[in-house]
Formats: sequence, structure tokens, C-alpha cells
Amino acid sequence: MNRIVINAKNVDVRISRHIYGHFSEHLGRCIYGGYWVGNDPELAAVVPNTRGIRNDVVEALKKIKIPNLRWPGGCFADEYHWKDGIGPVQERPRMINTHWGGVIEDNSFGTHEFLDLCAQLSDPAGPPCEPYICGNVGSGTVQELSQWVEYCNFGGISPMADLRRKNGRAEPWNVRFWGIGNESWGCGGMMTAEFYADNYRRYAVYARNYGAPPLYKIACGPSNDDYKWTRTVMEKTCGDGKNLLDGLSLHYYTIPGEWAHKGSAVKFTEDEWLITMRKAYHMEELVRRHGVIMDEYDPLRKVKLIVDEWGTWFDVEPGANPGFLYQQNTLRDALAAGIHFNIFNNYAERVYMANIAQTINVLQSVILTEGKRMVLTPTYHVFDMYKVHHDAVKLPVHVESEDCTLGSSSIPAVSASASRDGEGRIHVSLTNIDPRNEKTLSLELWGLQAQSVTGRILTSEAMGDHNTFEQPERVTPGTFTGGVISGNRAALTLPPKSVVTLELT
Ligand code: AHR
Repeated sequence: MNRIVINAKNVDVRISRHIYGHFSEHLGRCIYGGYWVGNDPELAAVVPNTRGIRNDVVEALKKIKIPNLRWPGGCFADEYHWKDGIGPVQERPRMINTHWGGVIEDNSFGTHEFLDLCAQLSDPAGPPCEPYICGNVGSGTVQELSQWVEYCNFGGISPMADLRRKNGRAEPWNVRFWGIGNESWGCGGMMTAEFYADNYRRYAVYARNYGAPPLYKIACGPSNDDYKWTRTVMEKTCGDGKNLLDGLSLHYYTIPGEWAHKGSAVKFTEDEWLITMRKAYHMEELVRRHGVIMDEYDPLRKVKLIVDEWGTWFDVEPGANPGFLYQQNTLRDALAAGIHFNIFNNYAERVYMANIAQTINVLQSVILTEGKRMVLTPTYHVFDMYKVHHDAVKLPVHVESEDCTLGSSSIPAVSASASRDGEGRIHVSLTNIDPRNEKTLSLELWGLQAQSVTGRILTSEAMGDHNTFEQPERVTPGTFTGGVISGNRAALTLPPKSVVTLELT
């Protein structure tokens, strides 16, 4: 028997819309060919674009109300020198993208182009798509990051503000989110936690506030279950009069196999499906246990957990450049996304932002492009179904679920999260990871009554079903009809391998 209780009494925590954020790196075809055709006259001639940015991609991301975009990396961020990406395009230096395929980076997409992209992604009638810039700590300097902030945010007369004006931008952009390094324990400089934390303090001090809004500074946090890293960084930056950070990042990828053989994105067994789900569920333990350590130094939970890289990571598609991390995206990815969002929603007291890796053509993408063609992946549709939770009030859920068993380990078949929006509508999102069996469940509402239940469902016949340029609508959401409500109870039937979002009114 599966049972879910939703409690609407004494609720006051909001699910930040930034949980539905994105990450886009100078990696493979994410920026170049994904967003940007400005450096490719042949492509620009056939892809409608605005100042070099693809219109089709912008429209698709606006539809899911993209709340923020992290850039320029990733590992790339710690080799990126922002001054290479400003000024006349033909004068910008070229560099080698050593991390990702050793290809030439022509720097045609730099600070102005990125901030133009964020502006284009912002719906004038709604909240903006906020830029989240990750600074270079690994091979950069304190001065370089300090000047980047000044260039973007200072409105008065100063060397960097004057340079910005010379490059055609009068007003400051007032970028709020700044990352101080990326994976500084690895590709961002192979630092110890102690060394990084001391450096973080220097970088953070000189990243100045130039008016409203104040900077939101995000320290490089742990990889996976490196709890020592979290403790050390928190201890050195927070508490005892120190108040140097707003967020601590966490990176965790769902990889079903070994690092050298992660498994195919589209051809996999039922066992691999379940291993993927088990590893996606692991995010809950990470958020909870890192949060417990953060609580020791920050009991009021002012410092937030920023899961700024998450997603599935499989082997690249056959024939693709191994350094480009291009993978297809199936119903399995959609379920993994639903599990992650339910976890983030349920831990909204601590998780303020999360960024899927990566938006286009890299890892768990929401969009794939090929020349002038574009396709939306099953993961895109999960973002679309869950957008009802943006900035809504979290309703705590209690889930009692049957297990799905794989060998000697069992994982819950059903996960859930719920919220109430500004108009009083209740939204409940559910996943059933069981690849074979539907799940019937009873939904109890405490402190709520509802007259109707409607919903959307994402499922498909086979676990590996996906959308291609030839068949772009194979996996798309449909209407959910498996719910009956009366008073404060609903009976639901979730088909196998499905993601559902209900609306109760
Ligand atoms: O998303 C791909 C890479 O994964 C990022 O560049 C890095 O931060 C992480 O290891």
C-alpha cells in the first residue's frame, strides 16, 4: 500500500525558483551551436537569431521560466580570463579549451554576449533569468575577479566601468550571483579544503558590493560525500563573527556504471535503470548530511546549499568527440530529474539553487541541437511540469512507498513533493520508478479540502524512449486521468515509470 500525507498547517518555507536553474559551460556544443551562432556565418544564415543568439532556444527556455544561468564553467571557469572575451570580436585572443576536447575557443561569446543572453531569456512580465557568473580562482587572481565584478556592476567613473562603457554598455548589469571558483578540490586547482577556504576569504573580500542588490557569494563546496570539505569551509568562513558566504555549492552526478564505463544513455537494462534511480535518490542523503554539518555553523540556515551541478552522466553517443560529453536523454533521465526536484523541493529550507548540467548538448540536456534543428528532451518536459513549484510555499509530504527491489537492495518506488502557489492552488509532483508495475496510492490532505484533481503525466512504452530530430514528440506530457478526489482524500493510480504533476483546487 502506498500512502502520501500532505500537510498544509503552519507552513512558511518557499521553494526557490532558483532550484530550477541551469548550467552552461564552454564545453562541446553547449555554447557554440547550442546558444550561439554569432561566430558561424553559415549557421547564422539558416538559424533565426538575435545578435547571434538562437531564437528557438530562447523561446523554449522562456517557456520553462528559466530562473538563472550559471556560466562560463565548470572546469572551464578556472582557465577563463574574462578580459579575453570583451571588446571588438576580431581582436579577442584565441585559446585552447584544454579541458574539453582541446578545441580552439575564439572568445566570441564573452561577458556582453552572456548577459545579453540572460536578458533575452527574461520574460518582461515575470522574474528575470538571473546570471550566475563563476569566477576563476584556480589560475586567476583576486584582482581579476574583483575587476570583473567592478566591470559588471559599478555605475560610476572607474577604470573597469569606463572600459565597459567603451565596449558599448552604459548601465551596469548588477549581477548578483558570483561563484568563487569551481571544483577547487579538482579541476579548479587541486586545493586542500584549508587552502581553498583561506583563498575564498581573500577573493570574497575584494568582490565588492556596488549598490543593490548586494552580491550573493557562493563558495566552492564538496564533491559528493566529502563531508570534511564542508566542515572545513564552513568553519573558516562562517560563524564567530565571520559572515563571508551566502551559499555553498555541492556537485553530484548520477553515474550508473564506473567512471571509465558509465553506460549508454539509450541502451540499458532494467538493472541499470534501477541503479540509476538508486543513485539519483542518493542526492537526498547528501543534501541532508551536508545540511547537518552546515547547521552546526549556521543554525539559522542563512547560508544555502547551491547544488550547482547535478544530472545524469553516461558515455558519449557513438561517434561523438569524447571531450564534448554529448548524450541522448530518455525517459530514465526524466525520472531522475523528477526524483531530484522532489528532493530539492522537500529540502527548500536549505537548498536555494540547483543547476542542471548542462542545458544544451552536454550531459543531461533539456535541449539538443543539430545545425538548424532543435529537439526538446524528456528532461525538458519535467522542468515544464514542475515550474508550478517556482516560489510556491512548500507543503511537507510524508511518503510511505512500496519498494522496488534490485538484487539485495530496495528503493522506494514513489517519491513526492508538494506546494501551494500564490492563487491557493495545490500542486503535487510524483514519480513512480517501477519499470513494470503501476502504483495505486492514497493521498491524504491535512488542513486542506479540494474539489477537483487534474494533472499532467510523462511516460512512454519503453524505458529508453527518447526524442530525436526525426521523431521529436515521442516522449511528451499528456493529461493525467488517474485521480479521484473527495474532500481531503484522493485515490491515485500512477502508471509504471511515470512522472506526474497534479493540480488540486
Ligand atoms: O559538467 C561537466 C564538468 O563536470 C564540469 O566542468 C565540472 O565542474 C564537473 O566536473
